[in-house]
Amino acid sequence: MERIAIYPGSFDPVTNGHLDLVHRGLKIFDRIIVTILTNPKKQFLFSLEERMQMLRASLSGAARVEVDAFDGLLVDYAARRGAQAVLRGLRALSDFELEFQMALMNRRLNREIQTVFLMTGMRWIYTSSSIIKEAAQFGGDVKGMVPQLVLERLTTKFPQPVTPR
Ligand code: PNS
Repeated sequence: MERIAIYPGSFDPVTNGHLDLVHRGLKIFDRIIVTILTNPKKQFLFSLEERMQMLRASLSGAARVEVDAFDGLLVDYAARRGAQAVLRGLRALSDFELEFQMALMNRRLNREIQTVFLMTGMRWIYTSSSIIKEAAQFGGDVKGMVPQLVLERLTTKFPQPVTPR
């Protein structure tokens, strides 16, 4: 049986931490479906199309990875796609409470789908899409934290004003 994991998220935008997790997941699963939440209630910096494009470009070399989008319940999507697991990354302890809550809710909703947590690499332990966006917004250098394409897109979204002399 093919072992398939769904790796869900907002990916607004994809970071090197996300990519690290996909590559770790590929050591355990035969196939990973990276899927973007399309929930229109959330405010995203990048459109769904932009987020998909950045993910696809960043994962173009990964043969066993598919990029998709979903709306509604995650466990329903996972069942529809024939997946046995939901993959989530854990960084600091602060991630744990929400992740624990989501995993237990998902288990209650569908007992067949297991949540698998993997630790991100130490290099990415303090990075998140949110903190990267915040730094980029105020002109912080986020090079090396996101794929090159994402870096370019962030620079386009947040052009830096010419510093007055
Ligand atoms: O990258 P994020 O924003 O932390 O990802 C959150 C995500 C997409 C995993 C979560 O919001 C989600 O699973 N949404 C789908 C709705 C759902 O199934 N909710 C019930 C279980 S928590």
